[in-house]
Amino acid sequence: MASGADAKKVLFICLGNICRSPTAEAVLNHVLKQRGYEGWEVDSGAIGSWHVGLGPDRRAVNVMKRHNIPMDHKARQLTKEDFNQFDYIFGMDHENISDIKARAPKTYTAKIELFGSYDPKKELIIRDPYYDDDDKGFEKCYEQCLRCSEGFLDSLK
Ligand code: 4NP
Repeated sequence: MASGADAKKVLFICLGNICRSPTAEAVLNHVLKQRGYEGWEVDSGAIGSWHVGLGPDRRAVNVMKRHNIPMDHKARQLTKEDFNQFDYIFGMDHENISDIKARAPKTYTAKIELFGSYDPKKELIIRDPYYDDDDKGFEKCYEQCLRCSEGFLDSLK
C-alpha cells in the first residue's frame, strides 16, 4: 500500500471538462479509494471556457451512477498555476496535449502525458463523446479511464 509520501497530484484535462476529464477524475478517485491510497489530489479542468461552473454532462453522470462511482465536479479552466501545482497533467487526445502545452508557462514541473499511454490494452486516445446521440461513448470512456487508472497506479509501484 502506498504511503502518504507516495501520494501524487493529478490533473485531468479535456476540451470542455464536462465529459471525459471529470469521468477520469471520478474513476481515479474511486480506484485510489479501493486500493486504500491516501493523500492524493485529483482534479480536472478544461481547455475551453464554455461550461465553466457547470456540472458534468448528464450522460457522464448516468454512467457513473450505473457503476456506483461518486462524481462531484464543477467545470473550470486550466490555469498557468496548474503546471507547477500538479505532478501530472493528463490529456485525453493529441489535441488536448498540444492545447495544454500551448498554455504552459515558461518553466514548469508537471509531466504532460496522454492518459491513454497507461492503458494495458494500448488504446491511446480517449475519444470525445460529447456529440454522440447516446451514452455508449461515455461507457467506453469509463472503461478506458478504469484501465488507465489501474495502469497508472501500477506504473508507480
Ligand atoms: P469533453 O467533451 O472535452 O470530454 O468534456 C466536450 C464537451 C463540450 C464540448 C466539446 C467537448 N463543447 O464543444 O462544448
